Amino acid sequence: MSELLWAEKYRPKTLDEVINQKEIVERLKKFVAERNIPHMLFAGPPGTGKTTVAHALAHDLYGENYRQYMLELNASDERKIEVIRTKVKEFARSKVVGEVGFKIVLLDEADNMTSDAQQALRRLMELYSANTRFILTANYPSKIIEPIQSRCAVFRFTALKKEDVVPRLQYICQNENLKCRERALEVIYELSEGDMRRAINILQSAAALGEVTEEVVYKVVGLAHPREIREMIQLALAGNFLEARKKLRDLMITYGLSGLDVIKQVHREIFSSDLKIPEDLRVMIADYAGEIQFRLVEGADDEIQLNAFLARLALLGRKFKV
Ligand SMILES: Nc1ncnc2c1ncn2[C@@H]1O[C@H](COP(=O)(O)OP(=O)(O)OP(=O)(O)O)[C@@H](O)[C@H]1O
Ligand SMILES: [Mg+2]
Repeated sequence: MSELLWAEKYRPKTLDEVINQKEIVERLKKFVAERNIPHMLFAGPPGTGKTTVAHALAHDLYGENYRQYMLELNASDERKIEVIRTKVKEFARSKVVGEVGFKIVLLDEADNMTSDAQQALRRLMELYSANTRFILTANYPSKIIEPIQSRCAVFRFTALKKEDVVPRLQYICQNENLKCRERALEVIYELSEGDMRRAINILQSAAALGEVTEEVVYKVVGLAHPREIREMIQLALAGNFLEARKKLRDLMITYGLSGLDVIKQVHREIFSSDLKIPEDLRVMIADYAGEIQFRLVEGADDEIQLNAFLARLALLGRKFKV
């Protein structure tokens, strides 16, 4: 079982198991009770449950064998108008048996469909609406043509919150007999930006290295621990140029960071309230970090540029008497 992707293993099967997205789930449960659904568009950021909810809804409507009643089109080569037309036609033609009078066509990631295909889809939605309902999912609903949007009930999925993600990760840790630090799970949440799939994937990569700690989490996403970046900045500001340089080398070697990675993380830490420095100094460092970033993008040497950056910090530190 261990080689299974946890994001799949822990995909909710029923609407009741879905985390948050409460209003959406409530409205959908009503549809299930009435045994009728409209055409729907599920819009929102990645990893927030759009595909999951579409399947869970079908599961709750039709039961375990719901796949018989659902046509799922999602690979990009299935997006051609002809393919959609023939597949949907065939699928919609056959009669539905059972309590529910319609079948479901799930067009996952519909915002990747060409507008020609969307025009064709619009016709299909009308032709087969007697016994077929369409569910579309999209990260960017503005890429769905107006006529389709107006035929659909639109459901907006939102990024998941810390109180949704952390307990879910804790549950997975328990189930997988993993040791994890609470703080590590919070860091995973911050890095995931409310994308549950990404959060679970980070957890799984970290778990492969043993106990899930903050350090391990940063390592698997290819970032240095912010505390270490701040230490490096502070060493340089305090005029310990050689030590700061050593820290920089350690960071680049342990975490496998490139010069650009380092400067991006530095940029983030400059604005962190955990770095206690005067406001004016922040401004000057941010200004110089931008300059270094530009030089690196243009292909300048990582080591020379980052050393120049640390040297500048040392000079600024002297001036500001940090
Ligand atoms: N609301 C949720 N409750 C529980 N698990 C979730 C939720 N949202 C996402 N997940 C987890 O993340 C995985 C991916 O979710 P899903 O495929 O539904 O995302 P999506 O919204 O369709 O994303 P995309 O826009 O990338 O297609 C699921 O397998 C599940 O493990
Ligand atoms: Mg999806």
